[in-house]
Amino acid sequence: MTRLMVLLAGVAVLSILAAVTLIGLARDDGPGSPAAINIDGADLGGPFELTSHTENRVSSAEVTDTPALIYFGYTFCPDVCPVDAQVMADAVDLLAAEGVEVTPVFVTVDPARDTPRALGQFVQAMHPRMVGLTGSEDDIKAAASAYKVYYARAGDADDPNYLMNHSAFIYLMTPDGLAALFRRGATPEEIADEAERVLG
Ligand code: NI
Repeated sequence: MTRLMVLLAGVAVLSILAAVTLIGLARDDGPGSPAAINIDGADLGGPFELTSHTENRVSSAEVTDTPALIYFGYTFCPDVCPVDAQVMADAVDLLAAEGVEVTPVFVTVDPARDTPRALGQFVQAMHPRMVGLTGSEDDIKAAASAYKVYYARAGDADDPNYLMNHSAFIYLMTPDGLAALFRRGATPEEIADEAERVLG
């Protein structure tokens, strides 16, 4: 072999190795759906204790003893939260049709207005198995902090019809912790496909 041929052969081998590495990365590291966020190294989720819409104190271990889709929002939200809760409910139905049981969970970031009763009406309108969770201001602060959820009351402090600003991700949790994270705009089909992939 000439020196040039050796060089070209070396470049070819390196190119193949690079391509194989890239294919491997794409397959092993990234989420399967563009609607899902890469959670490698993400430290999201943690212990909490909250009050369910049926007025029982529940721990995070009880809430995620089967896989759960968890969303933080509030029932007075004019548009975002009802849409996202419906997306979560539809994803749960798609998964159930495939034999995968996932519990939809709606945690309020507005415990002052979201009493168990108010939450109960909201979650029962969304899905028969949806669990609503509320608690004291400190309970909610602890749960939101564990999930790195941002929330803040917006507008005039005296306005009883205030809005809340809040982050709007859907977390797929299992007894082992975070299994997938979905950005706003993910469709029920995308969520169900990715959930089935990571749970299967
Ligand atoms: Ni909202």
